[in-house]
Amino acid sequence: MGSNARHVLDVDDLGPDGLEQVLALAELDPATVPRTLTDRGVALVFEKPSARTRNSSELATVALGGHPIYIQGAEVGIDTRETAEDVARTLACFHRVLCARVMDHHTLERMRDALDGAGVAVPVVNLLSDRAHPCQALADLLTLRHHFGPAVGERPVAYIGDANNVWRSLALAASMAGIPTRVASPAGYGPTADDVALVRSFGGDLLVTDDPAAAADGAAALYTDVWTSMGQEDERAARLAAFAGFTVDAALLGHAVPDAVVLHCLPAHRGEEISADVVDGPRSVVWQQATNRMHAMRGLLAWVTGGYDGPGAR
Ligand code: CP
Ligand code: NVA
Repeated sequence: MGSNARHVLDVDDLGPDGLEQVLALAELDPATVPRTLTDRGVALVFEKPSARTRNSSELATVALGGHPIYIQGAEVGIDTRETAEDVARTLACFHRVLCARVMDHHTLERMRDALDGAGVAVPVVNLLSDRAHPCQALADLLTLRHHFGPAVGERPVAYIGDANNVWRSLALAASMAGIPTRVASPAGYGPTADDVALVRSFGGDLLVTDDPAAAADGAAALYTDVWTSMGQEDERAARLAAFAGFTVDAALLGHAVPDAVVLHCLPAHRGEEISADVVDGPRSVVWQQATNRMHAMRGLLAWVTGGYDGPGAR
């Protein structure tokens, strides 16, 4: 069996052409986006909390004519009430797209494989896993392009902190879009060799360091995320100690170029990974990022349901 479903477990599933098509759809006036979800359902399964992802996904579904159904992980009990495969096959009986935020990235792979194995053309979309956050990275690319315009490829983005799900998707998306990146993390929290190779395989320049100032030096954008992600709460004390000195604050921002912007996927912990004066200050574009989550999601849902008919359509 198999299907032609456009699964998106991380940004690289889009391919460079697909990435541009999704962003082109995201930039369309919402009134002109093909309403590919008219009278169709979109399942939104959440094993973890969410503010931005849930709201942007629900409203993006409605904008495409569809009906979102929010499902808490405990309700369907993935691998407790029934297997991830059976949850996926069941939701595919009702929905045009299966979106899920999961504890373990492998759950998404199992859902994808179950649907492909059944020949069901329902795409699986990652709403955040421990490995990747592609929907966030799409909004981040929109934000960088809006801010820097055509010169974005000459404006390095420095990610300071945990080389986590948000970093991995951001670095992949940036590499696919020709934006140079740097990542600064303490020992033990940096990218794996496989991550670095994957990011570089798309041609993007990537600097890896354990020195936040070296990463920030001359950067056009500083990006950070929480030091303790959802599911890592038991590690919080060790992480607070390990990440001392990695706060994005005014001193670190001083290493970047004078017009540098500051990004954060949110939620933010003021006084930990970012200082209040920076996240709430004039260089911060975090609310533009949050707003772009909805535009990015509308583009992504339209794309996975075949809505793109512009240049290079396939
Ligand atoms: N940035 C982000 O994904 O936010 P939520 O966890 O609130 O969805
Ligand atoms: N890295 C964070 C991102 C939250 C949007 C987490 O996984 O909790």
